[in-house]
Amino acid sequence: MAAAALKGLILSGGKGTRLRPLTHTSAKQLVPVANKPVLFYGIESLAAAGIEEIGIIIAPETGGEIREAAGDGSQFGVAITYIEQDAPLGLAHAVLTAEPFLGESPFVMYLGDNLLRDGIIDLVEAFRSQQPDALILLTQVPDPEHYGVAELNGEQVKRLVEKPKEPVSDLALVGVYMFTPAIHAAAKAIEPSWRNELEITDAIQHLIDTGLRVDPHIVRGWWKDTGQVQDMLDANRLILDDLQEQVEGELVNSRTEGRVVIEPGARLENSTVRGPAIIGAGARLVDAYIGPYSAVGENVTIERAELEYSIVLNGSSVRDLDGRIEASLIGKNVAIGRSPELPKAYRFVVGDNAEIAIL
Ligand code: G1P
Repeated sequence: MAAAALKGLILSGGKGTRLRPLTHTSAKQLVPVANKPVLFYGIESLAAAGIEEIGIIIAPETGGEIREAAGDGSQFGVAITYIEQDAPLGLAHAVLTAEPFLGESPFVMYLGDNLLRDGIIDLVEAFRSQQPDALILLTQVPDPEHYGVAELNGEQVKRLVEKPKEPVSDLALVGVYMFTPAIHAAAKAIEPSWRNELEITDAIQHLIDTGLRVDPHIVRGWWKDTGQVQDMLDANRLILDDLQEQVEGELVNSRTEGRVVIEPGARLENSTVRGPAIIGAGARLVDAYIGPYSAVGENVTIERAELEYSIVLNGSSVRDLDGRIEASLIGKNVAIGRSPELPKAYRFVVGDNAEIAIL
């Protein structure tokens, strides 16, 4: 394995159905966690592990937006190649689509909506020094039926099953994998699953069945697959927990408490922000309270309202609310407020699959 440099392959296709309606207009990998797209955390952890060449698998619908956000990779100190996958036919299909880019290189495959607190530096080192044919990451979860699940025999992986109805263990496959080129033949050898996808889980099982060595590594720090709203809020909380205080905006009769980031150009009037929380550039808070675990995006306005444990995307506004907003994910350019018009009524213009809960 010594010759070829380790490459990165980030999967950033997929429809993000469980994050609708945000994903009707935007790729799920670009939904921000602590004001930074989920995808960027993945690119940064590959870069931190010394990987210089990264292929990003994109879907025809959302690829343009992802290209625009991540660019040629120079902002991360890497070179990015975009690889279009015509249809979402599975993770192993994505590997096959990327074969011309990957060639004979070993590679780290990273699902673009996954977040790993401790990064992958140690894992890349283990992969390099121990030289297995593949290295998989596992972690204990309360709901293994939603993931690929591993059955171990001591230090050995015995069997992997994708989303089993009756899981044999609570060890889920984390969406970060390390492969040698042996995975290409395995991906070609398997059949599509019940969901008509070529499952990477089946391809890894094929490596095991043909006598190759697949090493498991149990993840100790937290891991999040940000596929659903609650996961996004959790991920936001976990990332904000590591925030360093940095107040750069303008504070007028306002205060911050604890670890708060106020980005340049944000303006607070008669407001309180209690950390950990981040307020994006150009945001305007007037007579507002922002509580712990909130991420307020760029150019957001919060006036005479309170918000806690929530994510508000760029360009939205929240005004004149009696009750505090919490555990909410508010999309881009959304306006929440009061209407003086009669009849006194609730008036909504809300996208498909949205959820609204009022007092
Ligand atoms: C995929 C994999 C699954 C893995 C999960 C981690 O699931 O198929 O084995 O546990 O990612 O995020 P999917 O996101 O396709 O449902």
